[in-house]
Amino acid sequence: MKHSLKKIIDSEDIANRIKTLGKEISNDFKDRELTVIGVLKGSFIFMADLVREIESPLRCDFLRIESYDENGKSGHIRLVFDLTQPIEGKDVLVIEDILDTGKSLQYILHHLKPKNPKSINICCLLNKEKHPALSKEVRYTGFQIPDVYVVGYGLDLAGKYRELSYVAEVLEPAQE
Ligand code: IMP
Ligand code: MG
Repeated sequence: MKHSLKKIIDSEDIANRIKTLGKEISNDFKDRELTVIGVLKGSFIFMADLVREIESPLRCDFLRIESYDENGKSGHIRLVFDLTQPIEGKDVLVIEDILDTGKSLQYILHHLKPKNPKSINICCLLNKEKHPALSKEVRYTGFQIPDVYVVGYGLDLAGKYRELSYVAEVLEPAQE
């Protein structure tokens, strides 16, 4: 099925915002070593660009979560693969693509906190601002967006459109 897409954030705006976020993070952490954790798959492009704008020393790791319900993002969440290195005593920066209902982020925080990191901070590229309590826990936000389904720059619709260099709203039909 072909979808009609409307660009809402262009690649230049994304690049500029990421430069600013990188400066902010570098300033906040200075010479402290960060463990940057990408939540796959949606964060891979954002994380690749962001880590190149952070001046603090860092290591990268990844975890992958998946919804039980293949058709929806509201299903139960399971961990598909976990970190490869311990984070005990580390300053952790979690990189997420988007905060929607907040279920994924809640799951991730519950999963990471028992590993006893020194600190956990969250960086989301996009926030639909539907979850004010969790939004407060997001220290770094790229863009606030309306409650629409978006693709591109890592985000997908049924596996497609991750490769787009911009963020686009999916016009009808919104889901396959
Ligand atoms: P949450 O658990 O509802 O906050 O949703 C977070 C996850 O659902 C994100 O990490 C995305 O993988 C996916 N998601 C939520 N909204 C969108 C969207 O508009 N486009 C693409 N993926 C989305
Ligand atoms: Mg995700």
